[in-house]
Amino acid sequence: MNDALKNILERNSHRNLVEPAPSSEEMDLIYKAALRAPDHAWLRPSSFIEVQGQGLERLSRAFKDFAKEEIDNLEQDKLEIYANAPFRAPLVVILINTPKEHPKVPEVEQIMSTAAAGQNILLALSSLGYGGIWRTGTFALNKKVNKYLGLNSDQKVLGYLYIGTPEGKQKNIPDLNPSDFVSKWNS
Ligand SMILES: Cc1cc2nc3c(=O)[nH]c(=O)nc-3n(C[C@H](O)[C@H](O)[C@H](O)COP(=O)(O)O)c2cc1C
Repeated sequence: MNDALKNILERNSHRNLVEPAPSSEEMDLIYKAALRAPDHAWLRPSSFIEVQGQGLERLSRAFKDFAKEEIDNLEQDKLEIYANAPFRAPLVVILINTPKEHPKVPEVEQIMSTAAAGQNILLALSSLGYGGIWRTGTFALNKKVNKYLGLNSDQKVLGYLYIGTPEGKQKNIPDLNPSDFVSKWNS
């Protein structure tokens, strides 16, 4: 089997992520991989906010402000969980979709393009020896979070890719049988 296919088959999401994160040269390659996602009419609906160092504190403040203002009856321990969330990895990439008006390309196609960009990031990370996990939760897939992240009302956060070097034991990858998922039309 070639290395590219092996990388796809062995990609694994990682919850325990530590330093080092990819270098800025490596992140450039990773974004190039992201931007090779299929993109109908090349509308370029995907963009990314890269968060690390003091940026993680800023993201933590944004999560905290969001939680305090938008969640009713917020419990203190929940607030702490939200505030600590960005520190689960040394680097976080916020996946953003900005759909463009186009007569043939509906918003859903543009969202799928950004999702494909997210997967390309995860694959590029594993090919370089790093790990990541895509998370959504309270701070994604809603427009209320936009003002806390400095986004426009036409943008949407599709998720947070937590990125770093995997630590600890990896989970086993299930060996799925394609015939359970594929039906074939041969005639
Ligand atoms: C759009 C999307 C959102 C996700 N959100 C979360 C999340 O908020 N929390 C979480 O633990 N896993 C989330 N996951 C699942 C993990 O990213 C991961 O796919 C899952 O743990 C299975 O691991 P695997 O990718 O190695 O098969 C999400 C996955 C996708 C595609």
